[in-house]
Amino acid sequence: MSNTNPDFLADEFLLDHCVGNTPLVRLQRLASHTQATVLAKLEGNNPAGSVKDRPAYNMIMQAEKRGQIKRGDTLIEATSGNTGIALAMVAAMRGYKMILIMPGNSSQERKDAMRAYGAELIEATSMEAARDMALQMQKDGKGLVLNQFGNPDNVEAHYLTTGPEIWKQTGGKITHFVSSMGTTGTIMGVSKYLKEQNPDIQIVGLQPSEGSNIAGIRRWPQEYLPTIFEPSRVDRIMDIPQIEAEKTMRQLARTEGISAGTSSGGAVWASLRLAEEIPDAVIVCIICDRGDRYLSTGLFSVQD
Ligand SMILES: Cc1ncc(COP(=O)(O)O)c(C=O)c1O
Repeated sequence: MSNTNPDFLADEFLLDHCVGNTPLVRLQRLASHTQATVLAKLEGNNPAGSVKDRPAYNMIMQAEKRGQIKRGDTLIEATSGNTGIALAMVAAMRGYKMILIMPGNSSQERKDAMRAYGAELIEATSMEAARDMALQMQKDGKGLVLNQFGNPDNVEAHYLTTGPEIWKQTGGKITHFVSSMGTTGTIMGVSKYLKEQNPDIQIVGLQPSEGSNIAGIRRWPQEYLPTIFEPSRVDRIMDIPQIEAEKTMRQLARTEGISAGTSSGGAVWASLRLAEEIPDAVIVCIICDRGDRYLSTGLFSVQD
């Protein structure tokens, strides 16, 4: 029996309540050479520090609601970073064991963040190998794989929260939505919601240019394309050069005071190209996480 004061039993005092409802801020300087408005949705403000808190929370809550899992069960996921940290946080919050499988080259602070939330880590040779290993462990009865790449609850998280927040925060004035693509959950869910409100809104997806390496996003080989991805929900795909993503990430921090990771730098770079192209555009881009997560890469120490 809890003896908590009844004044503090409301949902608003639960950590659950802190997932989502992130700020939307206008770029004040980087886009000032254009006539367009560029707005950044600060997903690093989520409790475990990234946009992935939304699908992690929804995938676990929906599996619970369907009776697929109960407290004390083991969950398994292949993830190179933010999803792992988010799942580890939600698993701790809801009382699950979390096993995370990831490529060995994932950054030290990401691995430490997952362990801090009590998750068990297994290293694999590549992301593809990690995904295969997770499915094999599930087959062997070691736990439930949430499979963010094929789980409709990943898309639904953004359909139910990110999309409506953006629509409301822009008063319906958004003309372009820009998002980097990893599992594609963000772009699928937001696109579905925004197109229902106004089919003219342009949905722009980002992938690393050939040979570029940007944490969290991929040019997927055809056979590993996330099954939640529906090409018809994206109007335009832009290739992001790694060097521009990194440079813009530094500019964001130095000239706007917005701390973000490389994929978010890429999203801002693409938004600025659109702003130069389309004078009256109201562009919303996703800032997936915070720069703290990338400090050990040394990328912030580079002088441009
Ligand atoms: C840093 C970063 N950027 C972008 C993304 C892409 O988001 P989504 O998986 O919803 O496509 C992710 C996803 O893991 C990420 O961690």
